[in-house]
Amino acid sequence: MKAELEAIKTEALQALKGVETLDALESLRITYFGRRGKLTDVMKGMGKLSKEERPEIGKLANEVRATLTEAFDSVTERLHRQQREQQLAAESVDITLPGRKPTYGKAHPVMQILERIEVVFRQMGFDVVIGPDVETEYYNFDALNTPADHPARDLHDTFYLTDGHLLRTHTSPVQIRAMENQKPPLRIIVPGKCYRVDYDVSHTPMFHHVEGLLVDKRATFSELKGVLTSFARQMFGDQTQMRFRPHFFPFTEPSAEVDISCAVCQGKGCRSCGGTGWVEILGAGAVDPAVFEAVNYDPDEVTGFAFGMGVERIASLLFRIPDIRIFYENDLRFLRQF
Ligand code: DAH
Repeated sequence: MKAELEAIKTEALQALKGVETLDALESLRITYFGRRGKLTDVMKGMGKLSKEERPEIGKLANEVRATLTEAFDSVTERLHRQQREQQLAAESVDITLPGRKPTYGKAHPVMQILERIEVVFRQMGFDVVIGPDVETEYYNFDALNTPADHPARDLHDTFYLTDGHLLRTHTSPVQIRAMENQKPPLRIIVPGKCYRVDYDVSHTPMFHHVEGLLVDKRATFSELKGVLTSFARQMFGDQTQMRFRPHFFPFTEPSAEVDISCAVCQGKGCRSCGGTGWVEILGAGAVDPAVFEAVNYDPDEVTGFAFGMGVERIASLLFRIPDIRIFYENDLRFLRQF
């Protein structure tokens, strides 16, 4: 039995040296210390020993068990340490690698221009007012002196909804809403989305307008020209020339379309301006008395002027973009340039 114990000890210590995993260690532990383990078997056999043999063999057995327990513990610790080191190595971060640059969101080019337009008019004392995209025929047309047989009311231009509602075709209806809510004097601009059944190089079904309205005891056409000239020069540069062409809008009388000298050729004439040297940027005029009557303003007491411009149009001129549809294609190669 003594020899048996020595053999178990030698064999176990030898086997431990080759153990490389915690699983292998556990099965080795079972081989020696398990319920049917080799050392357990020997311990069980102790009862059969004579009184004389028992103390000596018992002492040896305890020594062997203590030695092996210690050996198992130290291998356990070694394997745990190895495991931890492997894990740390696998999870290590190479701090010498260059960092990833976060990509920042930016305002859409049309919004960038809209913001610039707002800043210019705010500096001239205009308040920014907004209104609903879904309008009634009354606000979008009737109150703006646009009778039912006007071409602008054609089904082909307007997205009609149900019950006399529609998607506003301009932000002019907010003129009416503002005047209903407020007594004169009034100095507002109205930025916002508009909708028309239209799709070509200079039209998208959804686009942005900035409407302007100034009402006072005596607001003159020359003041309108001053405001718009100041606006155009701040947007397009000090050299910008203005041209007011007679035009018709139902809600203004007289009305004008306003051109600026072409920024590409400085008015000499080029492909961008169709050789004319001028590009149209907005519509404007003196508020028609019929519009004042719709909101219970007395046309004998107040006068006003109004204007309306397309933001995509101005953005396409400033950024030299020949086809405005690209603004809404969401192509990052395009958007990243702004
Ligand atoms: N609402 C016009 C349009 O949709 C733009 C416009 C022209 C607005 C003249 C005005 C104005 O207030 O006086 O094209």
